[in-house]
Amino acid sequence: MTRLLLLNGPNLNLLGTREPGIYGAQTLEGIERRAVQLASEQGFELVCFQSNAEHELIARIQQAPAQSVGVLIFNPGAFTHTSIALRDAVLAVHVPMIEVHLSNPQAREEFRRRSYFSDIAIGVISGFGALGYELAVRAACGHLAAGDPARQRARASS
Ligand code: DQA
Repeated sequence: MTRLLLLNGPNLNLLGTREPGIYGAQTLEGIERRAVQLASEQGFELVCFQSNAEHELIARIQQAPAQSVGVLIFNPGAFTHTSIALRDAVLAVHVPMIEVHLSNPQAREEFRRRSYFSDIAIGVISGFGALGYELAVRAACGHLAAGDPARQRARASS
């Protein structure tokens, strides 16, 4: 069965208490619970993983094809602006990726304006807080359904 993988990078485990004026009041646990529920309503399993360590995120990305991950939803946190290694991991596995940010990095400090992921993502969602994850799950499910002949037939006949 095709799965979705929701990956969150450094400091996102602190959501809820971390700079709530920028990142909102929702915890990562709450965001993940909602994402799992939304995906399951659309008929997909969603697996969540957060790490503060670049090598652990790379390992999860490398495992994605063997774990039947069809779309990766990724908030790389500060690694967005620094990590060629994570970019290379995404490129290596050929799993479509949606980049998510709670804040809008383009409207913040200069050093946040460069992303190593935006040009290799199928889409980028930023600036909508926790809602961005819900939008990403919907987009990911739509992307998977569009590539699934059985679902295409079901849609065409409804
Ligand atoms: C972030 C934006 C990054 O610049 C920052 O380093 C984060 C969170 C966001 O979700 O808005 O850790 O990815």
